[in-house]
Amino acid sequence: MRIEVFRTAEDVAAAVAELLITEVQRDPAIVLGLPTGRTPVLSYERLVAKRHRVSFRQVRTFNLDEFVGLGADHPGSYRRFMERHLFAHVDVLPAHIGFLDGAAADTQAECERYERAIAGAGGIGLQLLGIGNNGHIGFNEPAPELAARTHRVVLLPETRRANAADFGGDPDQVPREALSMGMATILHARRIVLLATGAGKAACVQRMAEGSLTTMLPASFLQVHPNVDVLLDEPAAARLGRR
Ligand code: F6R
Repeated sequence: MRIEVFRTAEDVAAAVAELLITEVQRDPAIVLGLPTGRTPVLSYERLVAKRHRVSFRQVRTFNLDEFVGLGADHPGSYRRFMERHLFAHVDVLPAHIGFLDGAAADTQAECERYERAIAGAGGIGLQLLGIGNNGHIGFNEPAPELAARTHRVVLLPETRRANAADFGGDPDQVPREALSMGMATILHARRIVLLATGAGKAACVQRMAEGSLTTMLPASFLQVHPNVDVLLDEPAAARLGRR
């Protein structure tokens, strides 16, 4: 795990935007795995500001997760989030955007379709990740066992609270379940870049990077991946190296 600490969240975002531009220039048909959440918003903003430097026409994308029950047009859906923050502003082709359909009648079949689609695209080249306060990646929540592949998951109360902003500030309005890439889906990406900013992430970042591997902190499994970059601002890095 290579850890890089930047002074501010803005500095992290600038670095992520440059990294994405460099990767897409190097491989214009790269397959990107993308997160939603507050952390990547600034990075997407910076990338959009530099969009003249790069074309996404051959790029394929797969987002990590989606809420069960929400169709692509629901204002709280992650699909809409991505449209607002990235897809509407770059030249990615709609047919190249992979997304879990939270409104699918058969969620099991939908998860299987997603795994096939990722494999059919040749696997994920670069997976961007955030990290939950509880150490989740995607919506792989801490639990005695973790699912390997894309699956339906019950969200923990802290995760619903963290997502309340897009649901009128009311955690009870956040869907109780989601579809999420599994741990193996994520860990098969050829390169992983995890972003964390803010003091609220310091404890889980420390456990992720320096603690034991445990299903109770799913991000700790990133320690076994050979090609992981962790980009932090100073507050998120504050607890590293002083166990
Ligand atoms: C979102 C996702 C989640 C978030 C995590 C951090 O697609 O997969 O794992 O990355 O919950 O969220 P923020 O960035 O809002 O703190």
